[in-house]
Amino acid sequence: MTKKSSNHITVIGTGYVGLVTGACLSKLGHTIVCVDSDKKKIANLQNGITSFFEPGLSEMIQEGIKKKRLRFTSEIQEAIRDAAIIFICVGTPLAKNGEMDLSFVRNVARNIGMHMNAPKIVVTKSTIPTGKGNELIARVIAAHWSGTFDIASNPEFLREGSAISDFLNPDRIVIGVNSPKVGRILKDVYADIDCPKLVTTIESAEMIKYASNAFLATKISFINEIARICEKTNADVEEVARGMGMDKRIGAHYLKAGFGYGGSCLPKDVRSFYELLRSSGYDFQLLKSVIEVNESQKKAIVEKIKKLFPKQIEKKTIAMLGIAFKDNTDDVRESAAVDIAKQLHELGAHMKVYDPHAMENAKEVLPKDIEFSTSAYNAAKGADLVIIGAEWKQFQKLQWKKIKNSMKDPIIIDGRNLLDPKKMKKLGFRYIGIGRSE
Ligand code: UGA
Repeated sequence: MTKKSSNHITVIGTGYVGLVTGACLSKLGHTIVCVDSDKKKIANLQNGITSFFEPGLSEMIQEGIKKKRLRFTSEIQEAIRDAAIIFICVGTPLAKNGEMDLSFVRNVARNIGMHMNAPKIVVTKSTIPTGKGNELIARVIAAHWSGTFDIASNPEFLREGSAISDFLNPDRIVIGVNSPKVGRILKDVYADIDCPKLVTTIESAEMIKYASNAFLATKISFINEIARICEKTNADVEEVARGMGMDKRIGAHYLKAGFGYGGSCLPKDVRSFYELLRSSGYDFQLLKSVIEVNESQKKAIVEKIKKLFPKQIEKKTIAMLGIAFKDNTDDVRESAAVDIAKQLHELGAHMKVYDPHAMENAKEVLPKDIEFSTSAYNAAKGADLVIIGAEWKQFQKLQWKKIKNSMKDPIIIDGRNLLDPKKMKKLGFRYIGIGRSE
């Protein structure tokens, strides 16, 4: 059995990755301090209040606080001094040139270097460019601290909406290190998690993260193109994906056709990976196509709707059910549903939107004259078309007969192939899925 010890760990950045990491590591028995420069955010977190919705996270934070294994502070100096291991979990947004903006990472590295009081392990969880990111962190720390320290890369593979279970029951944990000793210490941090722990070089760990997200995006764009072909051939993409996925070499996951991938990770990581390589002289053509297919998927849906209403789309009322980039999250960043709603609004359609959790965020990104409905039923009332924009399971349980009776014209575009086409047609809907014939 692996020997497990409780470590003093500091997590810098209380965004999505930082909070899930901090809460889950405290659950594993470590003593965690989470740091953020945003004082208001810290004050809320001290009461267990998160600024975003993630199932189970708030409860886990409250439990950690109660057991005195988790605390929040904006005092970075003491947080760095008290820790043996520091996780960097700050954002790496896209810069204007399509590459990653590493200014938050650089700033954190400077703080670590300035407040370092003993050798520590500095672990990066933020997604950073292979080879360059950790080199930057090491260089900046060394400019302020003359003692020894170790750097490591421990990429996260969490999905929003299921992040806690992804953290505690992962397929694998990847640990990129420069020395076997650091590998052993970091493996020990995760001793209570039963999964393969792969220790690699730092560069390989960083590449595993990029390549994994790029491959997931590739699978999604692949199935979305197959879906378009299915529509021309009367094949059903859901059956095709099921049949393909039964082959263990292919695997059943990430073969769900829809509006394309969105969110704060896949679009950003895939684009920055492509741009990073391009700027160093490598044209990753496959990835370029993955990005193009994803963009054109949204355009294709809007074209489909324009064909549905060749005349006077501006007289039509369209309800979008599900505006988050997927189910179980309130995150609307790079949401395909937001993009499509905006395009239809620009064409003059009267848009009504509803989402079980993302309404506040939707109001921030959508035009003010869009109608924000209080329920799926209110959104669909009087509509000429209902679009399923995110794969919220509760939409399957709606009283669709009631919805049909309240609509002006019972047409449904199921952008996530969430509903049963036979059932919907039987209820009297004109049902249009993705990659399945009408
Ligand atoms: C993604 C990866 O799945 C995580 O492993 C990774 O850690 C994370 O990015 C990150 O880099 O931080 P996430 O962005 O939370 O996680 O979302 P996913 O569940 O992967 O979904 C991404 C998008 O793809 C969503 O819009 C979803 O609707 C879409 N999708 C997913 C499909 O269209 N089809 C599928 O089969 C699967």
